[in-house]
Amino acid sequence: MIITSCGNSEEIAKNIAKKLRVKYSPLTIAAFPDGDLYLKYNTDLKGQKVVIVQSFQPHPDMSLFDVLFAAEAAKDLGAKKVILVAPYLSYMRQDKRFNPGECISSKVMAKLLNNSIDKLITVDPHIHRYKSLKDIFTIQTTKLTANSLIADYIKEHFKNEVIIGPDAESFQWAEDIAKRIKVSATVLKKTRFSSRHVEVRMNNPIEIKGKNVVIVDDVISTGHTVAEAAKQAKKMGAKEISTIAVHGLFVENGIDKLKKAGVSKIITTNTIEHPSNKIDITPLLIEELKKE
Ligand code: R5P
Repeated sequence: MIITSCGNSEEIAKNIAKKLRVKYSPLTIAAFPDGDLYLKYNTDLKGQKVVIVQSFQPHPDMSLFDVLFAAEAAKDLGAKKVILVAPYLSYMRQDKRFNPGECISSKVMAKLLNNSIDKLITVDPHIHRYKSLKDIFTIQTTKLTANSLIADYIKEHFKNEVIIGPDAESFQWAEDIAKRIKVSATVLKKTRFSSRHVEVRMNNPIEIKGKNVVIVDDVISTGHTVAEAAKQAKKMGAKEISTIAVHGLFVENGIDKLKKAGVSKIITTNTIEHPSNKIDITPLLIEELKKE
């Protein structure tokens, strides 16, 4: 087995290789003078399983393109299997045509990967309108979840806490994590007016007054969703408000927005490299790759 990466998730890739005692060999990725992509493997791939570890953030388009080139090149160089480990898989949130004429990006992304890789391993992909990855992927897929790691983190670092999921689909994280640590949870009702305007309300109220509220979601992108949930929690008398997300994108000053809304602790897993990374998902990936 050879572990490589297209630039994102290099630390995770190196750790996997170290723990599995296999070779980590970085790719050379550059551009020709005209801007065309240049990609080169620096080790022999004949008969090897090649594992490309690449989070699709930052630069989702380039990441996808790099992975496709890397996968095709690996096969061309004699690899017997190409596995993509994408700690964060982008494009999953565009899972329907919200407005006439829109591209259903998740389907296109999956179609391209189906064509070039043999297996996909990812962590907490945004599955909302799809039932599973099988709805769009024809290749072997493994969906891992960071829930047990997040639950352990909360157990160790919080007291007197309640969990809030900021929208209906966050029940997959909020309710499951709350059950694991045996605390109350509620999931808010979100209305999204645009990618930068959301409103939330609490349909099933729980005791918030004097509690340490932990808002749990899969993705924090612009931060609007969690910020609105934090404002609700503040109105209801929360003592302290924190947020934990699997994937922290923090685009458009997301962190400032959260702080302004009263969120004091912002915690993420390392599926996307960021100073807020406190929870390491590498052990999940290693356990999965041990089966190969
Ligand atoms: C969507 O349903 C996701 O689970 C997140 O709630 C959403 O992507 C967060 O986006 P933003 O931070 O831009 O509000």
